[in-house]
Amino acid sequence: MRSYEEAFSPYWYPVAFSHELKERPLAARLLGKELVVWRVGAGVAATQRYCAHRGADLCAGEVSAEGLRCAFHGWTYGGDGRCVRVPSQPGAPIPASAALASFRAVERYGLVWVCLDARSEQTLPEWPELETGKVATVALPRLDWDVSAGRMLEIILDVTHLSWVHKGTFGNPEQQEVPPYEVARVPGGLRAQITYPALSPAMEGVVPRVDRTTLTYEVFLPFAVRLSFKPTLFFQHTVYAVASPWSEEKMQCFYFASYHPGLKLFPDIFVKSELAILEQDRLVAEGQRPKAHPLDFSGEVHVRADRLPIEYRRGVIALRTGRPVEGPTPE
Ligand code: FES
Repeated sequence: MRSYEEAFSPYWYPVAFSHELKERPLAARLLGKELVVWRVGAGVAATQRYCAHRGADLCAGEVSAEGLRCAFHGWTYGGDGRCVRVPSQPGAPIPASAALASFRAVERYGLVWVCLDARSEQTLPEWPELETGKVATVALPRLDWDVSAGRMLEIILDVTHLSWVHKGTFGNPEQQEVPPYEVARVPGGLRAQITYPALSPAMEGVVPRVDRTTLTYEVFLPFAVRLSFKPTLFFQHTVYAVASPWSEEKMQCFYFASYHPGLKLFPDIFVKSELAILEQDRLVAEGQRPKAHPLDFSGEVHVRADRLPIEYRRGVIALRTGRPVEGPTPE
């Protein structure tokens, strides 16, 4: 079986919010690699973090018109990772080995994305509504959780925990039964729509009280999801979550929402309520064992209400193993 890093390197992951990347280079991690990202011209660059000369941390360097300049001896690297200047011997040829491993990097949806596999033909999730200018977005601080990326997605896709883990915030403990729902396989992922009977009374005064909320989950394998909440015909907001794997047991999640720009109070309400809700999730997810996202369905019991996380895990295992996987028979 392929290693975790090998299996998931062909995909694009965010390593920073665009607003975090200013004139200074920024440290990033992805699938066991230490990276530095910086702005180059109208784009962004991502390379190995440590200088090819003597291993200095390039995050301590500075960005010049020529490229990223190391703070130790001033060697300067272009966006393709090649050294373009060695100040100690300006007239001499630059050794061919004076180069950093470089990776593809793009900026989209307010995020800086990196793909570690130069030959990959994978694409970013398609979220065109974020580029029309008709919606505004608000982001949470990066979620730096001690969980695997797969576990993070599974808890977001877990419908049955809403009434338990989120009682007191979003979930309604009076509504524990999950109605039947279907999960469709779509190109690149999964789609499911579930009507959740009611929001918790604890949300009264925060959002309009409604009897039913329709949740639409759209998974982009391996670790991204768009989740739309539609509590009324006239109101909807959509959450986007992308887990960026550092290792098989650790990730950072980039989590943001789109909303109608006319809803002036939405950012304050969203950030406050989502941070409270996600903290409840974190306490559960960090305690789960095994920490790595399981590669099979043994050792656990599966019921029909778990259909979405089951189908999700099947998809991730198939990417890891390179072959289709049978799911369990839910009881
Ligand atoms: Fe970076 Fe010498 S260690 S220039």
